[in-house]
Amino acid sequence: MDGRLQIFTGNAHPKLANDIVTELEAPLGRAVVGTWRNGETRVKLEENVRGSDVFIIQSMSNPADHHLMELLLMIDAARRASASRITAVVPYYAYAKQEKKTSGREPISAKLVANLIVTAGADRVLTLDLHAPAIEGFFDIPVDHLRAASLLAQRFRRDGKVNLVSVSPDAGGVARADEFRTRVGAPLAIISKRHPGPDSTEVLEMVGDVDGKIAVIVDDMISTGGTLVAAAQMLKDRGATEIYAAATHGIFAGDALDQLANSPITRVLVTDTIVLPPGPRELLDVVTVAPLLAEAIMRIHKDLSISALFT
Ligand code: R5P
Repeated sequence: MDGRLQIFTGNAHPKLANDIVTELEAPLGRAVVGTWRNGETRVKLEENVRGSDVFIIQSMSNPADHHLMELLLMIDAARRASASRITAVVPYYAYAKQEKKTSGREPISAKLVANLIVTAGADRVLTLDLHAPAIEGFFDIPVDHLRAASLLAQRFRRDGKVNLVSVSPDAGGVARADEFRTRVGAPLAIISKRHPGPDSTEVLEMVGDVDGKIAVIVDDMISTGGTLVAAAQMLKDRGATEIYAAATHGIFAGDALDQLANSPITRVLVTDTIVLPPGPRELLDVVTVAPLLAEAIMRIHKDLSISALFT
């Protein structure tokens, strides 16, 4: 790629964007990303991007629709200003849980969001721990899909935790928990759960032995916290000595932080793909994804393989 590297951000997570450009020893591109008086989103890139290799960093965190709109308008602005390549860097991809219809007359929101990003003019997407890996296929452009398992596992190894068991809180998360298990050298347990209603969770059964072990519930995201709280209760009932949670995206919707503080969970490890909401933070450990994303951006810019980031 010959074009200059230029990196911009919307308002979803300026700190993460700043941490990424600090890693890259590159400046953050100047841009106005605000709101017109009528409430519509206003964007203006304040630097020439003609012929540049442009990266736009924007998590689709709450308010997801607004942050998505900022991203789309920034992509459109870069496209119309003749950037030679535009990569949407989306540390947290929202609407991912709606990647299929679970009953009639529902949208497939994750596909629509992919269509919007492509239609706006993105050439590539760089993202982290999509709720379902198949979402990559919703894009007809290259998607570099990173995983945070190595960062999360590294933290547990650094803390010298032994006698761990990696727990998937649902059938859909088995591959994720299995990767974590491999990295920390632990057995695997799998919980089966169901959603009796929107945003509510009920655990049904568990396969695997957690008795006398330190259980680590591995998940892609923590939203209401319902999954973790229900899983933790089952793990405690089955004899786990301590219970930890490790998840990539800490959404912590509503009173999730309070719910977790009142659960049997000792600590919750998340990454910084999303700005943490207000609430009790004592339980939380945060590991940054800035170096990982910075490395990926540099490799994409230089047309190098990013497979090395998965080892
Ligand atoms: C579900 O399939 C996901 O992997 C997470 O387990 C879920 O999104 C967490 O949501 P909540 O915290 O609302 O239970």
